[in-house]
Amino acid sequence: MGDKITLDGKGEACLFECRVITAGGDPICGARIDVWSDNADGFYDVQQPGIQPKWNNRGVFRTGIDGCYSFVGIKPVSYPIPNDGPVGQMLESLGRHPYRPAHMHYVVTAPGYQKIVTHTFVGDDPYITSDTVFGVKQTLVAPFERIDHEHASWRSKFDFVLIPVAETVSTL
Ligand SMILES: [Fe+2]
Repeated sequence: MGDKITLDGKGEACLFECRVITAGGDPICGARIDVWSDNADGFYDVQQPGIQPKWNNRGVFRTGIDGCYSFVGIKPVSYPIPNDGPVGQMLESLGRHPYRPAHMHYVVTAPGYQKIVTHTFVGDDPYITSDTVFGVKQTLVAPFERIDHEHASWRSKFDFVLIPVAETVSTL
């Protein structure tokens, strides 16, 4: 916990931290947080084998009894989805750009709780209102604030709330 996941030395270092909690606000111990983002050039490590270090900007962390998590990545950047095939032709026909607003991916799991597969977004991104794959929700826009920290110049705090497996959540 607390480790740096950026291996290529690019981008603006960002401290991601906060808690995994229940709907009642209690910390969840032993939650697994699997995170990944693009690098500062807008590519994932798997898109650039031999260029980026393997596992660049990826990590797995597990919460302790306080439910807290923290790691240092980069402030992610917006990137275009691959648009050199039929998807690109479709977007062009619709007059849409291929960009996704900057985001950090998360899979959060814990024994006895429903899995969360989600991402958090950088609110001041120029594409925040026009994500080409329509993934943005207001509740997923995370704060990114400037900090004066030894290992990071940004901080993004975001709590993840897990629901027990026995319960279902109505979206109506
Ligand atoms: Fe992504």
